This record gives sequence, C-alpha cells and structure tokens, in this order.
Amino acid sequence: MGLIRLKIEPSKTKWIMKWQVQCFIVSLCCLKSVFSNVRYSIPEEMTKSSFVGNFAQDLGIDIKRLVTGKARIFTEDSREYIELIRDKGILVVKERIDREELCGEASLCAIHFQIVLDNPIEFHRVTVEIIDVNDNAPVFPNNELRLEISESALPGARFVLESAVDPDVGVNTLQSYTLRPTDNFILQLQSQPDSSKHVEMVLQTQLDREKQEEISLLLTAADGGDPQMSGTVKIHITVLDANDNAPVFTQRIYKASIAENAIKGTLVTTVSASDDDKGTNAHVTYSLSHIKEGLGEIFYLDPNTGEVKVSGQIDFEKTKHYQMNIQAKDDGGLIDSSKLVIEVIDINDNSPVISVMSFSNSVPEDTLPGTVIAVINVHDPDAGSNGHVHCSLNENIPFKVTSSSNRFYSLTTESNLDRETQPEYNITITASDEGVPPLSNTLTLTLKILDVNDNVPDFGKSSYKAHVIENNTPGLSICAVMASDADLNQNARVTYILEETTVNGAPVSSYISVNCESGVIHAVRSLDYEQIHDFQFRVKAQDGGSPPLSSNVTIQIYIQDQNDNSPQILYPVQSGVSLVAEMVARSADVGYLVTKVVAVDADSGQNAWLSYKLLKATDRALFEVGSQNGEIRTSRQVSDKDAVKQRLVVVVEDNGQPSRSATVNVNVAVADSFPEVLSEFSDFTHDKDYNDSLTFYLVLSLAVVSFLFIVSVIVLVSVKVYRWRQSRLFYKSNGNLPVIPSAYYPPRYADVGATGTLQHVYNYEVCMTTDSGKSEYRYIRPVSQNLVNVDPSGSETMRHVEKDKMPVENTESSVEVSSYC
Ligand SMILES: *[C@@H]1O[C@H](CO)[C@@H](O)[C@H](O)[C@H]1NC(C)=O
Ligand SMILES: *[C@@H]1O[C@H](CO)[C@@H](O)[C@H](O)[C@H]1NC(C)=O
Repeated sequence: MGLIRLKIEPSKTKWIMKWQVQCFIVSLCCLKSVFSNVRYSIPEEMTKSSFVGNFAQDLGIDIKRLVTGKARIFTEDSREYIELIRDKGILVVKERIDREELCGEASLCAIHFQIVLDNPIEFHRVTVEIIDVNDNAPVFPNNELRLEISESALPGARFVLESAVDPDVGVNTLQSYTLRPTDNFILQLQSQPDSSKHVEMVLQTQLDREKQEEISLLLTAADGGDPQMSGTVKIHITVLDANDNAPVFTQRIYKASIAENAIKGTLVTTVSASDDDKGTNAHVTYSLSHIKEGLGEIFYLDPNTGEVKVSGQIDFEKTKHYQMNIQAKDDGGLIDSSKLVIEVIDINDNSPVISVMSFSNSVPEDTLPGTVIAVINVHDPDAGSNGHVHCSLNENIPFKVTSSSNRFYSLTTESNLDRETQPEYNITITASDEGVPPLSNTLTLTLKILDVNDNVPDFGKSSYKAHVIENNTPGLSICAVMASDADLNQNARVTYILEETTVNGAPVSSYISVNCESGVIHAVRSLDYEQIHDFQFRVKAQDGGSPPLSSNVTIQIYIQDQNDNSPQILYPVQSGVSLVAEMVARSADVGYLVTKVVAVDADSGQNAWLSYKLLKATDRALFEVGSQNGEIRTSRQVSDKDAVKQRLVVVVEDNGQPSRSATVNVNVAVADSFPEVLSEFSDFTHDKDYNDSLTFYLVLSLAVVSFLFIVSVIVLVSVKVYRWRQSRLFYKSNGNLPVIPSAYYPPRYADVGATGTLQHVYNYEVCMTTDSGKSEYRYIRPVSQNLVNVDPSGSETMRHVEKDKMPVENTESSVEVSSYC
C-alpha cells in the first residue's frame, strides 16, 4: 500500500538549510568595496513589503548617505521585485515573487540587481536568492482516466498511466505516487532516458467482471513539501466480459412429480441455469443428456425456457419414476449438468383383475362348512389405496370369501348345503379398490351342488288301505304304492320290496307281489274271503344310493266278500238212501212244528242271509216254511185223507247278488203208527225217477269227456308246432344280442276258485334281490317271448321280464278292484 517517496535530489535539502549563513559571509567579504556584493535569501511568495534585508546595516552605509546619495535600485530588465526603502536602509518585497514563474525548473533561482548611489557613485550588487516554497501540488493532466480491461487479462499486464507534474523543485516537487485500492493492481515506475518517470499499473490479481464490473482507483501523486501537497486522478476501469463462467443450474437435483396419464403438454417443472457472463456468453440452452432410450419421447425439455413438458404416455404401472440428466450450455460452449427426477403419481386407472387359481365347479351337498371351493387371485396394479382391494360376494348365499394371504382369497362354504333346496349357485365375486372413485370388477362362478343320498324315499303316509273282492284274478293289480325321493338320479331311483311276513302261516309272497319299479301290488292268487278277511304287510322303498336309504309302509288289504258260497243244508242230512222222515201225528194241530231246516252260508252279510221257501210239496196246503228260520209247520189240521207220505222240497236262498240257493228234500210221514210209515217209505229209496235221470247223466258225461280229450290232443299238437316256429324266428332276429332265449318261465300260479271255473295263468315280475343298486335291466322285447337278461357283470341280480299282456279273462271277470290304495 504504501506511500512512495521519490527522493529526487537528497543533497539539496542541506543546501537549503545553510543559505543564510553563506549570505552573511559573502556580504562581509565585499563590505569595503565599491562594488560590494550582498546576498539575501528569501522564500518565494512573500507578501508585499515583507522584509528582505537591512541593506544599510549589512554594507555599513549610513542612512544619510543613502538619502544623499539617492540610493536606488537598478535592474537590467526593469522588473522590480524588490524595493529599497532609503530612510530605513532596508529592502522589502515590492511584488509577489513566484519562483516557478521566475526560474522554472532551475534549481537555483536568484534576482540580481544593483543599488546605485550618487555622490560618489557607488555600485552595490545585491543578489536575492528566491528559495522555493512548496506552493504547487502535483497535477495530473486530466483528473479522470478511463480504461477498459478484459477480465481475461493475465497478471503482469501493464497499463501506462499519465504522470503528474509539480513545478516545485527539490523536495517540493513530485516525490511519490500512490494507488488505492491495491486489490488488483500495483504501481511501477519506469525511469525514462530523460530522467522523467513513467507510471505504470501492473495487474496483480485477475479481474472478474462477474464480481466487479467497474473498478475505481485513485492515483495520488504527492510531493515532499511540508505540508505535503498532492494531486489525484481517478481511474475508471471497465472490466470487459470474457466467457469465463459456465452456466450453473439452480439446483443439483430437480425433483418434480407428475400424475400418470397427464396429457401431452402438461408442464412438469422448469429447470434453469444462470450464467454470470454477459451477452451471448450468458445465453443458455437446455438439453437432455445421456437419456435412456425412449425417455426422450416421454418428456420434452424446451431448450430456451427450460420447461419440461409431457410429450408421451406416462404410466405409473410401467415406470414409477424417471431420472434424467439435463445440460445447460452457453453460447461459448461451457456446460453444466444436473439431474431431474420425476416421480409419477398413481391415478386409480386400473380395475382389480380377478383370476381363478383353482375352482371345482361342483361340490357334494354334504360338504362341511369351511370347505374351500375356489382360490382366486386379485391383482390391482395401482399403488397405495388405489391398489387396496376388497372382495365381497353377492348376498344370501352360504359362501364367504376370506383373504388367505396378500392378493389371494379363498372362497369357502359358510353353512351346510342342500341340493334339494338349491341345486346351483351363482357366486358373484366383486373386487373393488379403495380409490376415489373406486374401481371394481366382478366374476361369476357357477357352482353345482352334487347330490348325496341324504333323503329317504317318502311314502307320504304311514299306511295304505286297499280293498279287493275275493275270487279275484291272480295277477290282478290291487293298488300301487308310491314313494318319492328328493334326491337325484340313482339316489332317487326307488325300488319297492315286499317284506317277508307270514299270513295265516303262509308267506305273504304267496298272496301278493310288488312290482319293484312301479310299486304296483298284484294279487298272486285268488283270494278267498272265507279263508282270510284281511291281512297286512310292509313294503320297503329303497333308493339306489350307496349306501341305500329306505323307508317302509304298512299296507292293509281288506278282502270283500262275494256271494260264492251256496247255502249248505246241515239238517236234515241229505243222503241218497236216507229214509229219514219226520213224523206228524194225524192229530197234530195247526202250526205243529214238523222240523226245522238248518242251513249255513260260508259267506257273510247279505250273502249269508238265508231265506227259506217251500218249493214243492205233495200237498202245498198242509205245510208252510218259515222264511226266516226254516221251520216247517203244519198250516191246517191234518185229516185222515192226507197221504202218509208227504214230500217237501225246501229251497234255501241267500241274499247275494245273484243269490245262490240249495234245495233240500224233507220227507214227512203223516201217520199215527210207525209200521204204517215203514210200509209207505220203502219206495223212497228206490225212486224210479231218480234212477232214470241218473242213467241219463252218466251217458252224457261219458260223451262229453271223450269229446274234451280229442280237443285237448289237437290243441297240444298245434301249440308245440307254433312254439318251434317262434324260436326259430327269434334266433334269426336277435343273433347279435347277448341274450339267451330261455326256457325259463315264471312260475305259473293256478288257482281253482271255489266255483271251479276260474283258472288263470299269470306271469309277473319279481325283484329277487334287495341289496344292490345295480339291478338295472332294460326290457328287451323281441316279439312276445319271455326273456331273461344275463347281467354282463356277473351279478346275480335278475329281472324277470313281464310278459306283455294281462290275461284277457280279466276283462270279463266279475272281480272288481280298487286300483289305488
Ligand atoms: C346362474 O346364471 C345363469 C346364467 O346367467 C342362469 O341361467 C342361472 O339361472 C343362474 N342360476 C341361479 C341359481 O341363479
Ligand atoms: C319300518 O319303519 C319303521 C318306522 O317307520 C321302523 O321303525 C321299522 O324298523 C321299519 N321296519 C323295517 C323292517 O325296516
């Protein structure tokens, strides 16, 4: 920093200090001479009338002499700086003396003049040395200096400044220069050949326009006078720009966020870089650098404004954040780079996707609650609550959905299932996320409930009652039982089985049979009311499940009476040779009880309600028969004219429809004594009429039997021939079937009714096994033959094929049947 003193001539200072001493010495040496020399020294710029020297005293001249001698000052150039005051003998300053004007740069400056005296003429030489006074400050030619320096100027660069000028001499003249401040520059003086000094400014530290564009310096030139004087010049330096600054991004990392699906042109963020330079050196353009492939299609960076905008499709589900390098470059080619990180904000733009991992589309109805039916996966690619998914089911179904683990759900049964109530469920799974607004998706699974044999066959009632009129046709269908099973298919396939019991000591199956498929109950034989009035049995209905379920029902069969029994005469006993006769005394009164016809009827009710009538009599007027009780009484007084032998024919009739009757012959003897009776009754035993008719009946019987025999032989031969032809035909038409024509014929049940006229052959169906659900046989009816199928699986189960028609006689039969129980 310092102040620089320039010692221009160090020796002069001493000289100036001694000037007065020398002056006196010189004056004393010249004192006695006419041409004496006197020397004074005064500083310049003394005010007028300032004392210079006591001339008279110094030269030893009397003041009176000066007056008389008309002492005066003589100068050659007639300029008078000094005045002589005669009456005092002193010299004073007459005019202001400027040394610099008088002597310029000369280091010694003196005024020379003569003091002239007349009478006698005397010349005294006076030298007044003018001593420099520091009355001039150093002066620069201009008080302002303007410089333009590039900031790229290197240290050591020199800039010549104007020098200052100080007209003073010696120490009073220019001694030193100072430059303030000295941040960038120092001063250097260069000695020129003409001994003048050049002032130079040397660049010490590099300039920076960006820090300080204008620099003001003050150059001070100082002299060595006392007081010191100085002059200054202002130096204005304008620092010129150089492209020495690279652009600088305002942030090391820019972070921004953008919602996915933002439309093209959406502003994401603005990046900016500043360049401290000026003009084109500060013009920055932006670009993306080192970007991954495809990124440039998604974002666009405006090179001039630094705005980052969307230019492509942003999908959170593909990329959650983007990172790219950005670059700022000025026109001078300097660059800066930064990073831009763009977070993508999720939008709820994806519905949950339901996929079925496993699903059994049918379950048995006995599935326990909590059984897993399906496992589903629900996936929502959105993030956060937009991807939080809830699953629910449609209402009122016995299922629930539970989350087994993240994104996996299991569909389980919640309660027991029942195929009979609902055989199928449509399970709609709804998956919805928690976005605002939420998105959802549904999936419908159709679940079939498989049947399990969980329902027993149901007869609907606990017992059946049926009525059948006796003497029915064997094979007659009495009634039908019917059980329903709520299950499906095989589980609902009901087979009816007759439970073995005994009726009157005989197996029930000898009375009735049950069609295992239809449940129709057939009479196996003709029933006889007189043997059994009613009976009951059980029929079991069994389904085809495994294991099978069954239920049973009681069937009560009531046999209704038919008038199939004629009255039977118990008394009087009928015998061909009987001579039994009732005796009536001739003295018998009117209303005498001769005898009583006793008859019974095996039928019951009306059919057994008997009435008696007198059919024939020897004398109709003599006897009468009680129609209700069968008592034979006399109806008038027996007279002597009445024959001993009286023959009565009494008919006993029941009340059936049609009625049946029996006749009885009653022999009555009207006599007073037994021998009379005997003689009379001998011809009762050899009744001519009776023998004649007996002979006739015998001949007729023989003829009929012979005829029937011939007819039978013819019929037998025809039947044999016919069957042989039929079997031939069957072989031809069924050769490819696994069917064996069999000689098996169901047992024929024949029953001869009480009337002796009914004989029916009836083939019927029997279910022989009860334990298997496999007893499935289809009918094969080639023509009209009875066939047996042999089960290919070897099962013992057999079904007897029912022959194709019911006996024709049935229609003619007088038997009536209540066909439903
Ligand atoms: C289940 O859906 C199917 C098809 O829409 C329809 O036919 C069926 O009736 C539905 N079943 C139930 C039990 O609703
Ligand atoms: C018939 O059914 C009854 C109940 O209805 C049952 O108690 C009985 O054991 C069954 N009989 C047979 C032989 O299955």
